[in-house]
Amino acid sequence: MNFRVVGPTLELRLPIDADAPALLRLASDPEVTRWFSWGPYETEDDAREYLDRLPAQRAAGEQLDLLVAHHEHGPIGITGLSEISRRDRRAIVGSWFGRRWWGTGANGEAKALVAHLAFGPMGLERLGAYTNVEHTRSQSALRGLGFRREGVLRRWHRHGDQVHDVAMWSILRGEWERSRLAEVPVEIGGSLPEAFA
Ligand SMILES: CC(C)(COP(=O)(O)OP(=O)(O)OC[C@H]1O[C@@H](n2cnc3c(N)ncnc32)[C@H](O)[C@@H]1OP(=O)(O)O)[C@@H](O)C(=O)NCCC(=O)NCCS
Repeated sequence: MNFRVVGPTLELRLPIDADAPALLRLASDPEVTRWFSWGPYETEDDAREYLDRLPAQRAAGEQLDLLVAHHEHGPIGITGLSEISRRDRRAIVGSWFGRRWWGTGANGEAKALVAHLAFGPMGLERLGAYTNVEHTRSQSALRGLGFRREGVLRRWHRHGDQVHDVAMWSILRGEWERSRLAEVPVEIGGSLPEAFA
């Protein structure tokens, strides 16, 4: 069985080439990519360039990006772990969803699935998240899920010529265990990619 993390309405799985058209549909909306250094996607090739980078990042154990697929509606976005440090047992979580999925609870369920993976089979102790200091929606969402704001990383992220201050958020294993993220039922199928097992 292929690796997957399954929740009540969503599952996380490894993205594949055939996901390019869906990723183009979702990320061609400038609202979706507004806070990112990339996008909006204009062609399927933009999505393919992204997809082509993933296997090497996985093999190196650096980054584990996962497609978020709705049980009925198919792909709705991406969530993933980056800056993975096995030594320090931490990673950064980041997510994006197509506009119609904002405010639906999809972000909370996807975060619950990725947190289960991180604190469960991957054995991490800390999950961090970065947001632009002006990205109020993302920060409200993180706070609502039990993340804490730690402070501001000054001039941290460069988008072309512009340099942005970024807020650092995190949730620790013990906080996750007591949060509503840990209440979501999760099943893991198949084997974690080798570098993360
Ligand atoms: C960021 C993202 C993942 C959050 O998911 P979401 O489904 O939109 O989040 P939710 O609706 O669950 O929560 C948003 C919270 O912000 C609040 N909110 C909504 N719009 C807001 C605004 N303009 N300003 C402040 N708060 C806002 C909501 O009321 C909600 O708070 P609550 O849970 O206390 O009611 C999603 O919007 C997204 O994919 N955005 C595009 C990609 C992106 O920016 N990713 C994050 C990069 S750091």
